[in-house]
Amino acid sequence: MTARIELIDAAPHQTLTLEFPGDGVTLQGRVRVPGDKSISHRALMLGAIAQGETRIQGLLLGEDPRSTAACFQAMGVTLSPLEDEWVTVQGVGLGNLQEPTDVLDAGNSGTTLRLMLGLLASHPDRYFAVTGDSSLRSRPMDRVIKPLAQMGAEIWGRQNNRLAPLAVRGQALKPIYYQSPVASAQVKSCILLAGLMTDGATTVTEPSRSRDHSERMLRAFGADLVVDADACRVTVQGPTTLTGQTIVVPGDISSAAFWLVAGAITPGSDLVIEHVGINPTRTGILDALQAMEADIALENPRTVTGEPVADLRVRHSRLKATVLSGDLIPRMIDEIPILAVAALFAEGTTTITDAAELRVKECDRIAVMTSQLTQLGARVDEHPDGLTIYGGTRLMGATVDSYNDHRIAMSMAIAALRAQGTVTVQRAEAAAVSYPSFRQTLAQLCGLL
Ligand code: S3P
Repeated sequence: MTARIELIDAAPHQTLTLEFPGDGVTLQGRVRVPGDKSISHRALMLGAIAQGETRIQGLLLGEDPRSTAACFQAMGVTLSPLEDEWVTVQGVGLGNLQEPTDVLDAGNSGTTLRLMLGLLASHPDRYFAVTGDSSLRSRPMDRVIKPLAQMGAEIWGRQNNRLAPLAVRGQALKPIYYQSPVASAQVKSCILLAGLMTDGATTVTEPSRSRDHSERMLRAFGADLVVDADACRVTVQGPTTLTGQTIVVPGDISSAAFWLVAGAITPGSDLVIEHVGINPTRTGILDALQAMEADIALENPRTVTGEPVADLRVRHSRLKATVLSGDLIPRMIDEIPILAVAALFAEGTTTITDAAELRVKECDRIAVMTSQLTQLGARVDEHPDGLTIYGGTRLMGATVDSYNDHRIAMSMAIAALRAQGTVTVQRAEAAAVSYPSFRQTLAQLCGLL
């Protein structure tokens, strides 16, 4: 079996070809993945509104955190170069973000836009205009605008206040008790950030637990926060003062997931991914792969600035199909595209339900995974809230597209490792949103460097 992967970038136009002759590819070695995207955004944002200096090591240098950095720089926050080993943020103090002279651009990043809105809405008498790329401008913003409006925020957007670009006139907000209909860390964090400047107790509940990086980091910065994990409820008492901290960002389990699946599905593979964040609100991918009988071991578990971390060892094994639904879904929401790839090589039929949120990510990931995996010869059925994936079908060479979605681009490259013939991934540069060095690490683990 000869596999060939062509990664085609649209702009600037270039192609990287990886060729694996002989009996197919095996992944070996030890790697580190870039810093956690969610933690990187939060470290920059809390650092920006804290008093004093925040120092960050291991910041993700992807396009998304760069968008966050640029937005806060435009509001008067001083940052050292993001390439420095330790990035320093000179916090302006809560309520002191300056009115920017131009539109704030969140690029492709939902986290930047939704979390930042909570801060902007609570800066009285300041005016902000915010936008993003075409993907972000089509993603629902009403999920944060509605609760913020209940707090008294003034936000206007296209299509009846649903879509960006948005205009914000900051206000002194009122506290609310908000029962979020979706398990979304972006919604929860937006409201908590708005609550920091709001007099009284602001509470958010969610139907099941989403990632809790905001809660952990807000506490570390000195916010008065009460978390009832069993009730999926968080309360912040405002107004508060945050103090700059030192943060070491662990590797992103969402990026590690590509290597976990690559190692699990390619015969002979044995690799270690070092220093990966294993916060229990993010480890659904480990639970799902272990339920599929993947051979994954957690080595050297430790805690790094308030977040659990471990080295993950994965070896090839025969996978079994599984059922993914319910509370597991928010704990692995970003990993479902790559898990769908794993399911193609499992014995039996895997079903994924309760995952309608995938339709409002960087692209409609249910529709796009169905169409692109089908292109490769897979059997996948699309449902309103998930997928049925039939394991055991041989993948063939074909041209697929990332739809400008980083996780689709990388999922397709990993599927290509087990395809017969040439798989061409169009718009592969999308990976740089969360994993700029993805292709180098792919080549390294495959022994091509
Ligand atoms: C994120 C939360 C998730 C996730 C996104 C990052 C965050 O989105 O999909 O990639 O950093 O808070 P939702 O909160 O919309 O589920």
